[in-house]
Amino acid sequence: MLKNTQNKYWLGLDVGTGGSRALLVDAAGKLCYSFTAAHEDMRMLRPLWAEQDPDDWWRASQAAIRGVLGEAQLNGSSVAGIGLSGQMHGLVLLDQSYKVIRPALIWCDQRSQPQVDFINSKLGREDIVRWTANPVLTGFTLPKLLWIRDNEPRTFEGVRKILLPKDYIRFKLTGEFATDVSDASGTALFDVAKRTWSDAMVNGLGVDSALLPAVNESTEVSGKVTEKAAGLTGLSNGTPVIAGAGDQAASAIGNGIVEPGAVSCTIGTSGVVFAFLKEPAYDPAGRVHTFCHAVPGAWHVMGVTQGAGLSLQWFRNRFQPNSSYDDLTLEAATSPPGAHGLFWLPYLMGERTPHLDASARGAWIGLTAKHQTADLVRSILEGVCYSQKDGMEIISKLGAPASSVRLSGGGAKSSFWHQLFADILDQRIAILETQEGSAYGAALLAEVGTGEYTSVVDICRATVREINIKEPQRTVVDFYQKHHRIYQSLYPALKPVFQAIGEADA
Ligand code: XUL
Repeated sequence: MLKNTQNKYWLGLDVGTGGSRALLVDAAGKLCYSFTAAHEDMRMLRPLWAEQDPDDWWRASQAAIRGVLGEAQLNGSSVAGIGLSGQMHGLVLLDQSYKVIRPALIWCDQRSQPQVDFINSKLGREDIVRWTANPVLTGFTLPKLLWIRDNEPRTFEGVRKILLPKDYIRFKLTGEFATDVSDASGTALFDVAKRTWSDAMVNGLGVDSALLPAVNESTEVSGKVTEKAAGLTGLSNGTPVIAGAGDQAASAIGNGIVEPGAVSCTIGTSGVVFAFLKEPAYDPAGRVHTFCHAVPGAWHVMGVTQGAGLSLQWFRNRFQPNSSYDDLTLEAATSPPGAHGLFWLPYLMGERTPHLDASARGAWIGLTAKHQTADLVRSILEGVCYSQKDGMEIISKLGAPASSVRLSGGGAKSSFWHQLFADILDQRIAILETQEGSAYGAALLAEVGTGEYTSVVDICRATVREINIKEPQRTVVDFYQKHHRIYQSLYPALKPVFQAIGEADA
């Protein structure tokens, strides 16, 4: 239901891995302006470790907010509400004066396998899945906190608050310590079925519950912009800030995955296959995550490829720094399906779905002297699609089969990659009119949170539109099914090798 609100905008802010993106939508949910400010690169002190500075996110968030208001030539009083989204799972540690103690360990950091083993041995893997709907994984927040306890005890003693990335920005904007149910789901401290912190996990591991922020549903107002933050950003003092969502749940709102049916595939740094669930359902092997959705009272399931867009970004930065992503995908199109028998395993930061292996590493298998840059790039794009197909197959067995797949994120910008997804997933691929993903979803949540729309489903039905469809090409589908089986045989063959490399590199 749409009210007539003129000259009002809602601001979505996504604190991603590569940058912070702010955008403004109007009352009809139409994207009007956007601005991105880049983050510093991830700090990788060792292979499979990844850190970022939360104050760099705050610098970039201020720049993005100021930038989008500048683009629109608006002042903060035109913004009726703000929605936040952000990279999930990261551990931001604050001291007693609420200053950042050390760089955040972010979502793709894999150093905490000993802590995961400790948590499992103390509480029991099966009980943990019963309490939190998921196994504990190295990427999740809790084992990162225990890594700090075990390896940096003086830092740990000084911790007074732990926050997720976007929630640090909320604190800087509003002074409030709060998160939302979708992001809290990825901490391993959250009772996903009951949508509240898990006493069993918190007490079972002796975590001080005073460290944790309050939890809101994604459409609830979590605080208001303070005078100080207004001065720094150009926003108005008192503007409501809605709880928002982890980047994947927010992106699903932007993609209209708010009812059973369509599934989304978001190719950012990570790659995520995402399906709506009316009730929590989980894979007993824990290969996909069951988390609260940003739709109040609903859940979702998702499969995560750790290094999706990251694979292409890594290749470009290391080997073709002067080529654009468009140049690279155009070149890839000159290589035939299967890239002359070349396979890319996208495990640059270990892997979650379907292997749950923090020590997995990236690899090209099948290289010959004939291979050209075009083949290397094509194999990267194909490898990411195979990995997303693995996630999709598990999700459809959980009772969330896809009627079509809505693509979003950087990977949704190449029409060549659209067709590859259609052919490898053997699915009808839909491209949306607004392919903004997380920041857009956050802005739509803000419209619901400030009462402009009555529900998330309402605003998605009114705003999300499919504009372009790619159908799978039968002959190529059959070809890729055979190649997918070869791809699937590679990880089991290499698993002991990855472990041996990890031990040798310790
Ligand atoms: C989801 C996940 C990533 C990050 C970064 O579980 O870890 O998608 O949120 O985008």
